[in-house]
Amino acid sequence: MNGRYEVGDVGQTLALAKAFAAELKPGDVVCLEGDLGSGKTTFTQGVAAALGAKRPVTSPTFCLVVEHPTERFLLVHMDLYRLHDEDDVLSIGWEDYLSRGAVLFVEWPDRAGDLVPASARHVRFSHGESEDSRVVEFSP
Ligand SMILES: Nc1ncnc2c1ncn2[C@@H]1O[C@H](COP(=O)(O)OP(=O)(O)OP(=O)(O)O)[C@@H](O)[C@H]1O
Ligand SMILES: [Mg+2]
Repeated sequence: MNGRYEVGDVGQTLALAKAFAAELKPGDVVCLEGDLGSGKTTFTQGVAAALGAKRPVTSPTFCLVVEHPTERFLLVHMDLYRLHDEDDVLSIGWEDYLSRGAVLFVEWPDRAGDLVPASARHVRFSHGESEDSRVVEFSP
């Protein structure tokens, strides 16, 4: 997926996530960028659901990392908000997950610094004009 999408409600965000999920392959790193409440976790919930993951993705307030086994690969949702630097990110298993071919969905990826591979996909979220509207932009 490519380009810019305006979504009007949560259901449209989940539908967009489903289309994105169809493109994923083992080893993909997806950086989710955007403000608090812009929809990064909601989008990840949609991806997990589309892949048939059994466990719901909670907003990981207490969990930095949530693993979602799927039939195609291990989907790993990370929220790095409370981490500070690359050493912190390494300590939660970043390299292990990548070496196992997991797909990483990463909120607040700036904490991971140079650990983010150049091949990572970037998805940028922002608030739209109404309360439930969001803008989602996919890097090429
Ligand atoms: N179109 C929409 N897409 C996504 N979320 C929406 C939309 N409209 C309303 N919302 C609401 O906005 C909130 C988005 O929260 P979410 O946890 O997904 O954001 P986040 O970007 O992960 O924030 P944080 O940086 O705090 O983790 C949810 O409460 C959701 O119900
Ligand atoms: Mg979140």
